[in-house]
Amino acid sequence: MNNNNELMFQPFPAPAKDIEIGKIRSDFPILSRSVHGRPLVYLDNGATTQKPRCVVDAMTDEYMNVNSNVHRGVHYLSQQATELHEQARETVRKFINARSTTEVVFTRGTTESINLVASSFIQAFINDGDEIILTEMEHHSNIVPWQLAQARRSFKIKVCPITDEGRLDLEALEQLFTSRTRLLSLTAVSNVLGTVNPVADIIHIAHAHNVPVLVDAAQAAPHLSIDVQAIDCDFLAFSGHKVYGPTGIGVLYGKEHLLEKMPPYMGGGEMIGKVSFEHTTFNSLPFKFEAGTPDYVATTGLARALEYVTAIGIPAIQAHERDLTRYAVERLREIPGMRIFGHPSFPVQTEKCEDGAVISFLVGKIHHLDLGTLLDQLGIAVRTGHHCAEPLMHRLGIEGTVRASFALYNTKEEVDALVEGIDRVIKMF
Ligand code: ALA
Repeated sequence: MNNNNELMFQPFPAPAKDIEIGKIRSDFPILSRSVHGRPLVYLDNGATTQKPRCVVDAMTDEYMNVNSNVHRGVHYLSQQATELHEQARETVRKFINARSTTEVVFTRGTTESINLVASSFIQAFINDGDEIILTEMEHHSNIVPWQLAQARRSFKIKVCPITDEGRLDLEALEQLFTSRTRLLSLTAVSNVLGTVNPVADIIHIAHAHNVPVLVDAAQAAPHLSIDVQAIDCDFLAFSGHKVYGPTGIGVLYGKEHLLEKMPPYMGGGEMIGKVSFEHTTFNSLPFKFEAGTPDYVATTGLARALEYVTAIGIPAIQAHERDLTRYAVERLREIPGMRIFGHPSFPVQTEKCEDGAVISFLVGKIHHLDLGTLLDQLGIAVRTGHHCAEPLMHRLGIEGTVRASFALYNTKEEVDALVEGIDRVIKMF
């Protein structure tokens, strides 16, 4: 079993260089605003990241100078918009190292990507009595689509448990595979615990049982290098807005031989070959899964965001966020009554990143909502609640947490502000 999580995605191509934090922060205009009269400390990046000016500019430029529907017109603007849209697909292909753009489907986000697979894969590959495997640390978007699909086929959902440390119990996972298992769908990084799952190892195990794997990379794409060929996943989903891109756009990667066998998810324009009232045929990949006018301006924005991240370098981002997370865990642990969920390996002695830039916590008896609301009064944005992971909350025996999640533009000074903010709230209680 290989526990080097870095190998889960692409190994670092080169040593990480330091990131220029001042320059990076100036790329994000929103970071210089204030909230409640205080400088904004934005620590809700797991929910959505802020957008660099280049993303906003690229989208504004497209609306102002190019706007036209894609794949539909012989005229100049339509062809220019189509070119930008298909270039964006190529940028995504490179970002995840897919074999071909035929394997890159644009969706509205991770949620739609998983719903697509839950609907279409089920119809093609699952019969009554079959089984799929999920895990206890999944977001609702990797639970509910499968439950909805159970109305179509009566298959069983099995759940891989987590350990008390917040890791997947890989021995228990092995026991869940049977001859009826048709799919394993799991997150690469927990949006609550920050746990980085060894997905390459897990995919290896699943493939030994002839089971394909869907990876929810929503919380991985902004932080880790993704190489779908190296990890050999069968499907992978991520959202643009969590990786510094626009809202309303996301990606489903799928292996061509699987996508070919799956029926369309939605019907409409663009996804057809020929239509008659008697018989309709479908377009080739990836267009078979892209009914209707795509958000072609958002795909341009997404491409710009991925180029921005790639120019800084995921290794540099990962090193910066690892440093920040380590510092934050150490500082938060100094607070009396602090209870951090996950992050068992800190303070880490090695360079291996075993926990992502997400820290969920509770302090004494202070309700998470109160703590979040009072931190907001100090200009500090964190998320509170169950984080769309109620089964995980149930496993942890809590209703919710406060969650701080970091991005490439966060600083140790912001971690200090969070710690001081929590200290102030504690004094108020
Ligand atoms: N899935 C996002 C989060 O974890 C919204 O906050």
